[in-house]
Formats: sequence, structure tokens, C-alpha cells
Amino acid sequence: MRRSISFSIAFVLFLLPLLLGLVETTTPNPAVSLEGSFTEAAPAHFVRGPTVNLVTNSSALIFWRTDVPMNSTVDYGLEESNPNLTVSNSTVVGDHRITLTGLAMGSKYYYQVTSNGTASDEYHFRTAPADGAEFKMIVFGDNRPDTDTAPVQPQEYSDLVDLVIAEEPHIVIMTGDYVLIVTESHSYNLDAWERFTNITDRLGHYAPIYGVLGNHDTSAYTGTLRLEYFFDAFEMYSEPSPYSSFDYAGVHFTLLNSEEQYNNGRITGTQYDWLVDDLTNTSRSMKFVFAHQPLYPLQHINSALDRNMTEMIRLQQLFEDMNVTLFAAGHDHLFNRLTVNGVVHIIAGGGGAPLYHTPWGGAFFHYLKVDVSSGQVDFTAIDLSSVTREQYQLPYDGPIEIEARFLANNTLQRNGTLPIFYFSEIPDEVLYSWDGGSNSTTLTGFPDEPDAHTLDVYANDSEGSWSHERFVFNTYNPDWPTPTTSTSTTDTESPPPPMDVVLILGIVGVVSAVVVVIILMRFKRK
Ligand SMILES: [Fe+2]
Repeated sequence: MRRSISFSIAFVLFLLPLLLGLVETTTPNPAVSLEGSFTEAAPAHFVRGPTVNLVTNSSALIFWRTDVPMNSTVDYGLEESNPNLTVSNSTVVGDHRITLTGLAMGSKYYYQVTSNGTASDEYHFRTAPADGAEFKMIVFGDNRPDTDTAPVQPQEYSDLVDLVIAEEPHIVIMTGDYVLIVTESHSYNLDAWERFTNITDRLGHYAPIYGVLGNHDTSAYTGTLRLEYFFDAFEMYSEPSPYSSFDYAGVHFTLLNSEEQYNNGRITGTQYDWLVDDLTNTSRSMKFVFAHQPLYPLQHINSALDRNMTEMIRLQQLFEDMNVTLFAAGHDHLFNRLTVNGVVHIIAGGGGAPLYHTPWGGAFFHYLKVDVSSGQVDFTAIDLSSVTREQYQLPYDGPIEIEARFLANNTLQRNGTLPIFYFSEIPDEVLYSWDGGSNSTTLTGFPDEPDAHTLDVYANDSEGSWSHERFVFNTYNPDWPTPTTSTSTTDTESPPPPMDVVLILGIVGVVSAVVVVIILMRFKRK
């Protein structure tokens, strides 16, 4: 008896959705076929996308997600509102992945997806151009919400996404920290990541998006990785991996994981070995590397990839040896460019998270536009008002750039009070001068007097041209030098002569004067 009641309840539960489905299909909708199974007839609700992913010069993956399993069709073509090509899959699925092949190189395609007769809007994307041809890349990230607004995404991020869409980039790279936190609550995580993908997919309609993992995007530090949400947000691999590489338009792209469990803020061990192989084995002359944490942070000093100085120097040396053009990161919520021995380091972390105000500036919401061609790379940082805030171009043929970084000295930070200087290329000769004093080829410690001090730094390039920067330090607390200003008029002024030369000239002058006086006195006596 109990068994027959259970069977009856199950039968009713089975019929209920069918009855509801029939009610829905009675609504006039010419796009919905009344033939076929129930799942084919139900109108589609697009939970994700459609987005364009893994774009090459001849193929692209179109992804979208429906709330229930349905069939899949992509209509596409080279003319707007005229999708004359079609790829379909009758297998009902929730995650729809249709690969378009045989596409024309460097071309703009329009596409529209359909599931169970319900069509999306029409979107467009560009296939990769030929190797060495021009393309536009956008880099941004650190869009995560603040603690008091999470899981709601910042309005600044949504606004930046609209600006980036208007740029019509070929490809987009995101620098991490997409959500505030990954918790033990699956429903919270789903909600937080859905808020991120709802905004991000608006851009994903038009360009492939690749992202590196940020420290806020995993709970690795509590012992559980929970990378499934990050993997789900980006359709950028055949097999999900927190680090990977690919080629695009003749450029080699490497995405690193600076959040490795037990190796937070380090590129080491197996991943470092993989990186060496990856950069060694590519035949591409231009290489772009990305990670969430920067090598030369401005806010997270000693708590980014500079955490382990030996590994940091090793990574910089690897980039130099392998002719890496660009290393871009986030983590610091600001914009900064620092060229070190020919490697351009960019922090593009102004995607919407609370900005960091440091002595080095760059605290504005932004995206980085990178225009790439075979002989030139243009970097442009653009803020929320579409104002260009910084531009830089490769190849760079100006004088050596001199930049300073400071090491604090307290129990939480690495010991040391000397500033560190970085040069845009390896100088032939470097001279330092405290308070306008004698030049020295080695940098000595801060003067003892607690006061404002100047430090002039001169760097001579291979063509014999001198660059000069003057930095001002306030040593009221000698343990924590505070850069008040960097007068930083980069010029090609030669350094003043060393003090010993001045001293010798002075002595010679005084002796000469004395001799002249003695001669005159003797002449007078006569
Ligand atoms: Fe971060």
C-alpha cells in the first residue's frame, strides 16, 4: 500500500512539469517549435553568455549556459544581421560549447546563439590577425568589491567594462581578484561569482577574456583551494589549470599563478620549472607574462612576488634572459609602469576595488590598452573619464629612466634602510651623490642628521648619455625614510665632478694665489 502511494506521488510529480510545460507552449511564440520533446519546446533562459572564447586566427569557441538542458545552434557570418553560416548540436546540454572553424583571419564576425528556439541578441568578435599584424589588448583587474559592499560588484567595474567594450579589443586579460572572498558557503560563492560573470560576460560577448587567479579568488590559505568558481568564470582552457600559456597573433602569452597553495606570492618549484620550459620552448619573439602579484609592488611591499628576494631576482633575470616584453599584474589597486633592464612591468589594478594611495601615485580606476604590432607596442592607461593618464611606447629610445623603491625597517618588513634604484636599461656607469656632495659609485647609507636630504642619481647609457634624477628623503625617522618628493626632472645633465677633483682644483687655486701674493710683495720691496 505504502509502495503504491509513493508510486502515485512520483507519477504526479513526473506529470506536473509536463503539464506546466504544455501551458507554456500554448503561449503564441513563433520561435518555439511545438514539435519534438518537452526540452526542445521550452523557451531558453540564458544563465551565462553567450561569450566568445579561445579565439585563434581561424576558430572560436562560443559558450553559453541555459538553466535546463537544451539544444544548441550558432548562426554567424561576416555581415551584420546576416548570419549565413550555422553550426548546431541536437544533444541537450546546460553548458553549450560550439566551436566555429574555418574562420577568416583578422576578420569581424557577427554571431547569435539559439537554444530551443530562443535566440540571443547578435554580438560580434574579431578573429586573431596574422602573426605580427596589429591587434588591441586590454588589461585590467582587481575589480573585487570592498568588505562593506560585497558581494555587490563595484559600479566602477561595470563602467570600465562598458568603456572596454567600446574599445572593441581583440583580446582581454584580467589580473585577478574578481570577488572579495571564497567562503565555505556554496550559495554565497555562487552568488558572488554570478555577480562578477553577469558584468564580465557583457564584455565576453565581444572578446575572449583570460584571467589569472587572485588571492581573493581562492580559499587556499584556509586549506581548501575552491578553484571551481574561478575555472567556471573563464572559458580559457581545454583542461582547467591555474597556470597556462597560448599564442595569439605571433605573441606568446603566459598566465602564472601567484596564489599557489603553500607558495603564496612565489613562482617557484614545479611552476617555475614549467615557466622556464614555457619561455624557452616558444619560438615567438614577443612574450607577455601575467600574474596577480607584481614583482615591484608599491603597496604590498614585501608581500607580493618580492616576498622572497632571491626568487624575485631570479624571475627578473629569467625575464631578461628570455626577452620578455611585458610582465603585467594587479594586487596593488593603482596603475604603475616600471621598466627594469628592458622588461616593462605594469601594475593594472584599478578595476574597481578601493584604490591605494602611495607616494608613487597611480591611484585611479583604469584599464590598460596595449596596441601591438610587429615593430611597436603602445601602452596607454585610460581612466574612468576616458582620459589618458600615461603613455609609453616600445621600442623606447629615450634616456635611461631611474626609479626608486624604498625598503622599510620594522619587525614586519624586511630590514634595510637603503632605497633601491631600478634602471630602464642596464647602465654603463652609475653615480650617487648625497646632499650635493661627492659622487660615489656605490650607494651609501642615509646621512646621520635627521633632516631632509637629497640624493642625486646619475646613469650613463651605452651611447655616453647621462640621465639624472634627484630624490628627496626626510630622515626624521631614520628607520623609515619617507620620500617627500621626487623632483625627478630626468635630464641628460652630466654628473658634477667628483669631490677629489674639486679639492685638488681648490688647493691648486689657493697655492697659486699665495705664490702670486708673495711674488707681488717681493716685487714691491724692490
Ligand atoms: Fe590581491
